[in-house]
Amino acid sequence: KSLRIAVIPGDGIGKEVMELGVLCLETIATIYKIQLEFEHFDFASCDYYKEHGEMMPPDWKEKLLQFDAIYFGAVGMPDLVPDDVSLWGSLLKFRREFDQYINLRPCRLMPGVPSPLANRKPGDIDFWIVRENTEGEYSSIGGKMFEGTDREIVIQETVMTRTGVDRVLRYAFDLAQSRPRKILTSATKSNGISITMPYWDSRVQEMATKYPDVTVEKYHIDILTAHFVQRPKKFDVVVGSNLFGDILSDLGPACTGTIGIAPSANINPEGKFPSLFEPVHGSAPDIAGQGIANPVGMIWAGQMMLHHFEHREAADALLQAIEKVMARAQKDVITPDMGGKGTTKKFGEAIKDEIWRM
Ligand code: NAI
Ligand code: MG
Repeated sequence: KSLRIAVIPGDGIGKEVMELGVLCLETIATIYKIQLEFEHFDFASCDYYKEHGEMMPPDWKEKLLQFDAIYFGAVGMPDLVPDDVSLWGSLLKFRREFDQYINLRPCRLMPGVPSPLANRKPGDIDFWIVRENTEGEYSSIGGKMFEGTDREIVIQETVMTRTGVDRVLRYAFDLAQSRPRKILTSATKSNGISITMPYWDSRVQEMATKYPDVTVEKYHIDILTAHFVQRPKKFDVVVGSNLFGDILSDLGPACTGTIGIAPSANINPEGKFPSLFEPVHGSAPDIAGQGIANPVGMIWAGQMMLHHFEHREAADALLQAIEKVMARAQKDVITPDMGGKGTTKKFGEAIKDEIWRM
């Protein structure tokens, strides 16, 4: 059965890195005899907005529901369209409407990228961050009273549902169980946040009984961030609520170097809706149009997509190709963010060539 992929390049460097992402996916698919069908869409971009006065056509949902996955570049042209309009009109709609309740990010120190942490080498940092992506602290429940007076009061509620908490924990436990070390770390703050976080902890404890072979550890978010920096080796799978997961999933990849290489997946595990695979970075207006954006985040996001659809061998091969080219670190191939003089095209094509050589 072929995998149907909606390709949405978006804005700025999203369009530039997407070409290389698709190129690498097509190459690996040819070798491993995986049928991929790509269809390109120009909506969810600020160019589309300029022409139509909205980020997406009214039937965007029906259109995208025909696909197994969305391969997404980046959205945003802040000089033309305010960021809240472009983001809420596209990416955030996908995440919510398609119930992509898992946000998954690898945190892996790659060759050729010096870690900002002292004395770390590839292999030292290799874990996953699983963030709850639909509820928790990011609710819109709350309000203001007595605005502008000294009695002013603002309140925003955290929402945790049993279904919402259990499903992200189940995903994280499954992931931990599938890995050699089988360690699950839960981010909490039940010493300070006295209702929702103890609830989160109790669901972790309950879920743990179903996974006796998984080692469970919990840390308060404050000391956990310190451990990310000081003892990153200890982690295997880390799970957190929407807010804690958001913080950790920026901190983790930051500990492993440039933002240009980090990928991210927004997953609806049941496959009822398409999942979305994207680089972590945005549209980078400061370097857009120059052809020097690092394509690795985009290509690696494609690798996560293959892995998600259980094309394990192809996914492993693609990750190896990325790592080999990065390890070689040829100055005329790698992009300026990694200290090179190469281009998006040269870097991406070097990865494609490496796939053929393997
Ligand atoms: P950004 O990620 O676009 O850029 C931050 C810095 O990192 C810039 O200096 C940029 O040149 C550099 N950078 C990013 N990706 C790179 C790559 N692949 N290779 C080399 N250097 C890279 O974040 P920023 O500047 O805060 O936002 C710019 C626009 O992107 C805004 O409109 C923002 O809303 C949007 N954005 C969209 C995201 C998405 O589509 N998922 C995520 C983050 C921001
Ligand atoms: Mg963030």
